[in-house]
Amino acid sequence: MKLDGKVALITGAAGGIGQAIARRLAREGAHVALADIRTEPLDAIAESIESHNRKALNVAVDVTQTDQVTRMVQAVVEAFGHIDIFFNNAGIIRVQNFLDVTEAEWDQVIDVNLKGVFLCGQAVAKHMVERQCGKIINTASLAADRGRPEIAAYAASKTAVVSLTRSMALDLADHGISVNALAPGIVDTDMWAFIDNEMGKLWGRQKGDSMQRRVDIVPLKRAASADEVANVGVFLASDEADYITGQTMYIDGGDSA
Ligand SMILES: NC(=O)c1ccc[n+]([C@@H]2O[C@H](COP(=O)([O-])OP(=O)(O)OC[C@H]3O[C@@H](n4cnc5c(N)ncnc54)[C@H](O)[C@@H]3O)[C@@H](O)[C@H]2O)c1
Repeated sequence: MKLDGKVALITGAAGGIGQAIARRLAREGAHVALADIRTEPLDAIAESIESHNRKALNVAVDVTQTDQVTRMVQAVVEAFGHIDIFFNNAGIIRVQNFLDVTEAEWDQVIDVNLKGVFLCGQAVAKHMVERQCGKIINTASLAADRGRPEIAAYAASKTAVVSLTRSMALDLADHGISVNALAPGIVDTDMWAFIDNEMGKLWGRQKGDSMQRRVDIVPLKRAASADEVANVGVFLASDEADYITGQTMYIDGGDSA
């Protein structure tokens, strides 16, 4: 087991990628704190972690709210003593033409995807600095890498996450903390079901058509499973990745090649 006895915290743990990472962390021996704005799905994930004889903790958090983020870190430290690994993974997307994006929608996406990564990353890093070690993995996206129609705020937020990852890595290197980012392409989760639905409404397409159009231009000709993203996440969280920091790992079937 790569992560035997380590303590991990993950935001967006109720979502497709979050829960795949959480389950994989437990299989590698980590105790896992599951944080999300939606707590109802967390019980089943916690049960699966406990079935590996690892401890689980469910935490309700809105990553855009400083006081809630502070309480999340306190709750995990109280329950488990410390945090070794942090997956900064919560995210949202909105789908509309740039001309139709309202200020409120822009703020919402940037608040969750960028400010949330900053607030949670800083709160966890302040705790990790006390122990002079830790691994932080932010979730960016292939959308950080290139222009994409209809997801302007999302793409901008994820490009900023790549930049923030580099800055965090440099500021935290002296404290033994590494910071890297995952950049998935298309992953078969509720987020892509939502994108497919919204694009269907915009372009009058059948259910599944918009996702298939994107999959068709991926060199490997399929979406990733959430488990394939989790595999890379667990590698970055392990000692095997000790000399890697400030990097963004693309898990995109060759789409960014
Ligand atoms: N699915 C993909 O194709 C894909 C591709 C690239 C990047 N990503 C990124 O991966 C991450 C996980 O996405 P997913 O595919 O699992 O999506 P998902 O919608 O299944 O999960 C996202 C989770 O984030 C939570 N969340 C949203 N707002 C929150 C808030 N304010 N506070 C706390 N939690 C909040 C949601 O409740 C949800 O459980 C996101 O950052 C997303 O942008 C996804």
